[in-house]
Amino acid sequence: MAKPLLAHAGGSDQLKIGFIGCGGRGTGAALQALKADPGNVLWSMGDIFAERVNSSQQSLEHELAGMDEDDGTGTAWRDKMQVSEERKFVGFDSYKAVIDSGVDAVLLTTWPQFRPVQIAAAVAAGKHVFAEKPVAVDAPGIRAVLAASEQAKAKNLAMQIGFCWRYHNAMRAGFDHVLNGSIGEVTTVHTTYNTGTLPVRPRKDGWSDMEFQLRNWWHFNWLSGDHIVEQAIHSVDRMAWAMGDELPTKVTCHGGRAARFGPERGDVYDHFAAVYEYASGKRAFHTSRQIDGTPSDNSDYVYGTNGSAYINGWTPNNIETKNLAGERTWHFEGRAKDMYQNEHDELWASVRSGDRLNDGQRGCYSTLMAIMGRMAAYTGQVITWEQAMNSKQKLGPDNYAMDAPAPEVEVAIPGRTKFF
Ligand SMILES: NC(=O)c1ccc[n+]([C@@H]2O[C@H](COP(=O)([O-])OP(=O)(O)OC[C@H]3O[C@@H](n4cnc5c(N)ncnc54)[C@H](O)[C@@H]3O)[C@@H](O)[C@H]2O)c1
Repeated sequence: MAKPLLAHAGGSDQLKIGFIGCGGRGTGAALQALKADPGNVLWSMGDIFAERVNSSQQSLEHELAGMDEDDGTGTAWRDKMQVSEERKFVGFDSYKAVIDSGVDAVLLTTWPQFRPVQIAAAVAAGKHVFAEKPVAVDAPGIRAVLAASEQAKAKNLAMQIGFCWRYHNAMRAGFDHVLNGSIGEVTTVHTTYNTGTLPVRPRKDGWSDMEFQLRNWWHFNWLSGDHIVEQAIHSVDRMAWAMGDELPTKVTCHGGRAARFGPERGDVYDHFAAVYEYASGKRAFHTSRQIDGTPSDNSDYVYGTNGSAYINGWTPNNIETKNLAGERTWHFEGRAKDMYQNEHDELWASVRSGDRLNDGQRGCYSTLMAIMGRMAAYTGQVITWEQAMNSKQKLGPDNYAMDAPAPEVEVAIPGRTKFF
């Protein structure tokens, strides 16, 4: 039997959240947002596909009902689901209906292609924003999100981008330790994101070419931005973090498709090796791979004038520093907490306090670093920060419809594919 909401959850203290992109990450984010503040309720949901709205809703209801039974705090968790049938929206335009449904804030957890338009619309309508990484797949998208981030600041709206490791307590301790000089001055970093390949969802009867691409979004550059932008971006972001968030001046990147074949696997590469250069003359390195049967690694190797740091991206309390003799000088000893929950705890606390968190610009810069790596790999050229930021290349169609022709897909060839 559900208990009443905490006093603070009713009336004017209630914060209504709309949720667009009801997949795996979004469903997790919705739960974290509800857990973060007693007054937060889920008010409306939207997705391209009806079945995703329904399965996400069921999963959230199930989870919250379980929490009612386990929780002795008096919180009526299931009452936090206030998504009535008329506030469930389906289609490419569902974000507009969710934004207009009377919400205070939105969670934007769709595929990367759609993020800039949805962020801009939410901020224009005066909503607080949680948006997953990456913020865009191309430079026009980055420029749109940078503008929206400035607009959010002017309106005192919160904007948080899902670079969740920045909200991880052990990572923060490790990076603080390094950036406070424990290994001297950081001279270079190598981050890796080496993992297996991604599956193909076989075509079903009735799927248009467009629907096939959408359902297999991670294989298509226009939807995902390729895996350096969609997945390995966490490691590019941590490279930026280790370099003190200094912006690189240019990048050279090798990449290709060594073990990913066939049109059903779209146009994305399966490996990248990027060298970022800085005004100071420093260089930083990122390598990523999605190839089965090869060793995995998701680590940050940071080198300084007095020692080095090792940061494990999959076991993030495995963080240590060493001196130049290779002796351990420090390691993280605390307990690693759930970064996704911490991310939302900080976001919603900032919304409540009025001192609104906004990491939109940093999210744009880390995303552009990954995009410029992809641009350099695809074209085989050295790409400067200015070139990347001012690129006119817009990925994806101007209008979206399930029966519209799917974008043509061509695997980039370094030395032949043009930058623009
Ligand atoms: N921070 C992290 O650790 C982390 C982890 C996983 C995924 N992600 C990011 O979250 C995003 C979603 O990933 P996912 O794994 O949940 O994917 P997913 O396919 O499980 O979910 C995405 C959902 O969004 C819906 N959608 C896509 N475009 C839409 C649009 N224009 N309008 C409405 N609905 C739309 C899809 O139908 C799907 O239900 C990606 O950007 C991914 O990079 C981040």
